[in-house]
Amino acid sequence: MTAHIIDGKALAEKLRAAIREDVASFVAETNVTPHLAAVLVGDDPASAIYVRNKERACEKAGIKSTLHRLAAQTTEEELLDLIGRLNADDQVHGILVQLPLPDQITEKRILDAVSATKDVDAFHPENVGLLVQGRPRFLPCTPHGIQQMLIHHGVQVPGAHAVVIGRSEIVGKPMANLLLQKGEAANATVTVCHSRTKQLKEITRQADILVAAIGLPRFIKGDMVKPGATVIDVGTNRVEDKLVGDVDFGQVSEVAGAISPVPGGVGPMTITMLLRNTLTAAALKARTPGEAGG
Ligand code: GUN
Repeated sequence: MTAHIIDGKALAEKLRAAIREDVASFVAETNVTPHLAAVLVGDDPASAIYVRNKERACEKAGIKSTLHRLAAQTTEEELLDLIGRLNADDQVHGILVQLPLPDQITEKRILDAVSATKDVDAFHPENVGLLVQGRPRFLPCTPHGIQQMLIHHGVQVPGAHAVVIGRSEIVGKPMANLLLQKGEAANATVTVCHSRTKQLKEITRQADILVAAIGLPRFIKGDMVKPGATVIDVGTNRVEDKLVGDVDFGQVSEVAGAISPVPGGVGPMTITMLLRNTLTAAALKARTPGEAGG
């Protein structure tokens, strides 16, 4: 194996220690404990694990978290009612609705209903718009976590050709937007590929930085990667009860210069950035107490 491993778990621990200190300073200064409300609808086991990990991470960082568990058959109106109450609750700074939601609920209607100033996932159209315009309120958690991995691994992003595979609202689109902005670990030339892209391999082979967020286990093979490239694997596929990335690690680690593994890569970084956003949301509220209520 030739590639350096980009250890997201180790970096996440380091950044979480810094966040814990920042939370402690914030609490000492304001007497307010940042509070994240997580909403979990239904009993998807993977979602339950993610939410539990988020709760544990909050606790360790000194952030209060409350979990609102709703039954799988919850209606859209019931969920909107809960979101309305959390929006109006002055004690709640961040709201996270775990995705995916059951089929009877229209995801966009729910995400649009979360107060933009409590939207720690950065899914609200106002926050997406602010990011696109280069003046973000919250940075989207997974893309921001990836950006931190690139910075801390010393990857030269400005001027690099970054190829993002996947155009989801959670990863692909915000990742492309983040890399496109002016600033550190940005200023990249960005190409976004997806299921309808022709001659994918020709494009991925041009990537200095390749972000794989396709949702297909071990989809990226060694011959799709430029020698020496940095490869970030965002895949979280379950194969025979094992967590498998979108990158064929065995093959690609022989070609790439640096690669993030699954597990232990992007996953822990996403939660870390959620902690950061929750503190940001509490700080926003402390600065503009009248505005962050709904
Ligand atoms: N489901 C998978 N990833 C995410 C995420 O980043 N945020 C939320 N809310 N749900 C998810």
